[in-house]
Amino acid sequence: MQLSDNQYSIQGVDPVELCRQYGSPLYVYDGGTIRRKVLELQEAFSGVKMKIKYACKANTNLAVLRLMRELGVELDVVSPGEFEMGRCVGYLGSQITFTPSGVPYPEVRTAVEAGATVNIDSLPLLEWFGQTYGSSKPCLIRLKPNVAAGGNIKIMTAHTDSKFGISVALLDNVLAIVEKYGIKVIGLHQHTGSDIKEAEPFLKAAGVIMEAALHFPDLEVIDMGGGFKVAYHPEDSLTDMHTLGQQITAGFKDFCARYGRELELWFEPGKFLVSESGYLLVTATVLKNDPARFFIHVDSGLNHLVRPMMYGSYHHILNVSNPGGEAKTYTVVGYICETDTFATDRPLPEVRPGDVLAFLNAGAYAFTMSSNYNARVRPAEVLIDHGQARLVRRRETLDDLLRTQEDL
Ligand code: LLP
Repeated sequence: MQLSDNQYSIQGVDPVELCRQYGSPLYVYDGGTIRRKVLELQEAFSGVKMKIKYACKANTNLAVLRLMRELGVELDVVSPGEFEMGRCVGYLGSQITFTPSGVPYPEVRTAVEAGATVNIDSLPLLEWFGQTYGSSKPCLIRLKPNVAAGGNIKIMTAHTDSKFGISVALLDNVLAIVEKYGIKVIGLHQHTGSDIKEAEPFLKAAGVIMEAALHFPDLEVIDMGGGFKVAYHPEDSLTDMHTLGQQITAGFKDFCARYGRELELWFEPGKFLVSESGYLLVTATVLKNDPARFFIHVDSGLNHLVRPMMYGSYHHILNVSNPGGEAKTYTVVGYICETDTFATDRPLPEVRPGDVLAFLNAGAYAFTMSSNYNARVRPAEVLIDHGQARLVRRRETLDDLLRTQEDL
């Protein structure tokens, strides 16, 4: 979002005008930002055979998926629903990896038979895979390297206590099952967690995976998952993707030399590709100047953006209706009958009832984690690309909420 002459705009489009046209609250995605992030990642890893598998749990709007496909990005999915959404926009099964977490085996069967590559995340699934397919279908194995990375335990996935993947401590068991059925393991996978800025945890996890990789002679891929940090707070320093790319590339090249073959390096970013592209536009409804705090209620809540309440995440807020207003301190809260505080004692240009506020970094894990709690409908979504705004999901209606009820 740009500010010029006291007026915010996204690719020249006025966000307040968007709310007038499509209603509030409203999710808006800037396609230009997604294009830029894809390019940044591709350039950072131009020294190796790198593939991006977008972790679409971050944002499954079909327009976003279509844009990813147009940009040559493939997909990582975690459910049959995500898989089918990928296919809706033209992805072939073979362009999709399925990275399940303890899902029922029939889900794995459907994905494999539609041509997807599965990341096997447990010994029982590996055994089932061997019994079912022998050596006839390729797979990746998701190892847990036992590396704690990033600062937030709720979004770490590779530490010892994490449920994800097969601990490297069980490598002998993995190898025994692989040998028993002749399973064709074409890749090893790990995902360290989310919001990781430094190269060090990636390199540490990569080191563990690459050591394990020497036991698998038929590898084509090392999949390093996602997790690149984005800036949520204006003072957050950005991941220097160029330097990170150089460091990881150097380590990977050394590994390939040891392995004796050049492998592909896959990443599965979610946040990095889409977080900054998204804005949740809301409208200030009731201003409550309580002796303890100055509350601003908005026409949204934890039903639309749960990250602040679920992880304590910071989302920067702009008053796009009154950028030049005098700074005041507000506590921004939702309309849900729960404590749904978006921001406590946050300085903002003076907010008046009816002002449109924008939550930044609302492109990842925002709409996809929304709900109908309090029987509230989900917002509409708009994509702005090449300077044109387009409705890419209509607002839900009461009919949508009632559609699955049997007792009407
Ligand atoms: N690959 C796997 C196997 C994953 O589990 C995830 C995220 C990703 C890739 C993408 O991670 P990213 O690049 O987006 O950090 N809802 C939380 C984040 C949970 C991420 C779950 N898995 C949040 O809003 O911070």
